[in-house]
Amino acid sequence: MTLPPKPPARQGRVSLWRYMRLFRQDILSAQPARLYRAWMAEFRTPFFRSYLCNQPALVDLVLKARPDDFPKSDRIREGLTPLLGNSVFVTNGETWKRQRRIIDPAFEGGRLRDTFPAMLKAGQGAVTRLADMADGKPLEIEAQTSHVAADVIFRTLFSLPIEDELAARVFAEFREHQRTQPVVNIAALVPLPRWLPRFRRRRTRETAATIRELITHMTERRMAEIEAGTAPDDLATKIMTTPDPQSGERFDTAEMVDQVAIFFLAGHETSASALAWALYLLALYPDWQDRLAQEADQVIKDDTLSFSDMGKLRLSRDVFRETLRLYPPVPMMVREAACPERLRDRDVPRGSQIVLSPWHLHRHERLWDRPDAFDPARYDTENGRTCLREAYIPFSAGQRVCTGAGFAMIEGPLLLSLLVRAYRFAIVPERPAMPVAHLTVRGKDGIWLKVTPRG
Ligand code: HEM
Repeated sequence: MTLPPKPPARQGRVSLWRYMRLFRQDILSAQPARLYRAWMAEFRTPFFRSYLCNQPALVDLVLKARPDDFPKSDRIREGLTPLLGNSVFVTNGETWKRQRRIIDPAFEGGRLRDTFPAMLKAGQGAVTRLADMADGKPLEIEAQTSHVAADVIFRTLFSLPIEDELAARVFAEFREHQRTQPVVNIAALVPLPRWLPRFRRRRTRETAATIRELITHMTERRMAEIEAGTAPDDLATKIMTTPDPQSGERFDTAEMVDQVAIFFLAGHETSASALAWALYLLALYPDWQDRLAQEADQVIKDDTLSFSDMGKLRLSRDVFRETLRLYPPVPMMVREAACPERLRDRDVPRGSQIVLSPWHLHRHERLWDRPDAFDPARYDTENGRTCLREAYIPFSAGQRVCTGAGFAMIEGPLLLSLLVRAYRFAIVPERPAMPVAHLTVRGKDGIWLKVTPRG
């Protein structure tokens, strides 16, 4: 049985500078193979120490038991400030807690039900859009999944379809932004000494400024609609009208702009990556694709379905889950030890980097049965269920768990089922995909598929 693509691990030891160079190219293939077996790995350099924690108990300690002692590193902010300002993704402490108190209610179960029709519309739009491209010629599918994921965000957040002029401009600028700064997380993962000057390309600063200007425009417009009592009942209105239960304060326009920027970035890049890999995996394993199409046919009637039907798309959920295991869109996360620690009998100095790697944890050879195999049925086995609880963190875990986890687990299976019901996806043998970690896990040269109507 062919295994899904996995980047080759680094061979042998390398110098720090060589490691940095490899790391810049791709954080996945820069790592040695032993990380797929280790419980913890230490990296010592002249500037910093870094500890990759791969043991479920350690991951729990950092994310769930004592998260306040392992805050996000300030360096994450350095890389992302031009675009994200003071968004919930980069803040810590009291500011972060207040922001989450305001944002979280918008993503609760009941609200997801209200959000569902907008997601469905975006999915139906993608099915229509693909009709012109479903001619069996090689198609780069990430561009399509980015498009639909962006549409989902605009429709659910601002009740705007991506065809709206402002929405289309934000989407175009984000694409440009990624082109100018393809590896945003470098600054976060390699803590360069503070005295080293930072070079940020001018074009990157410019695209960040344009995106923020456009988002500011949208947010100001919405603020005015709220005041006039004419605002649509969507996620933006909900977030902007929710007072912090402790202080009674709401987000002002500036703070909301920061949050919109992160919803857009975190919400569309990640879902686009997962959906593209899910389609690639289904192309590699056509039996699964046919089973999924059959399930979708049974559940989706007259090209539509309701929120309560989502529970019936079980295969689709398991395929999406397995995709997030093999290709976690956020492959690594970084925290900082706020005080000296002792982890697995090693002294960990204050300020050390603590790296959590969904990529390695999800393929850990001592935890998962056949860790590199694609098997959505594994979640019906004892090993699959245990690992799902203890070694599966595509959305992180604990108090800083992804705000959009529930949202994404509706969106992903929904889009997958709609697309697979309408089209057949096949691999392009001369263009195999290879994962590489940019801002999220993407195909090194894109993800190419042949699409034809299922008929
Ligand atoms: C498959 C889709 C998604 C994946 C795999 C994913 C993954 C993650 C992960 C791993 C984190 C934690 C990062 C860290 O702590 O360093 C995170 C945070 C976050 N995500 Fe998602 N995400 C997805 C979709 C979404 C969506 C749809 C939204 C919003 C609409 C969203 C909004 C956020 C926000 C606001 C945070 C910051 C939370 C905080 O720090 O308190 N994400 N996501």
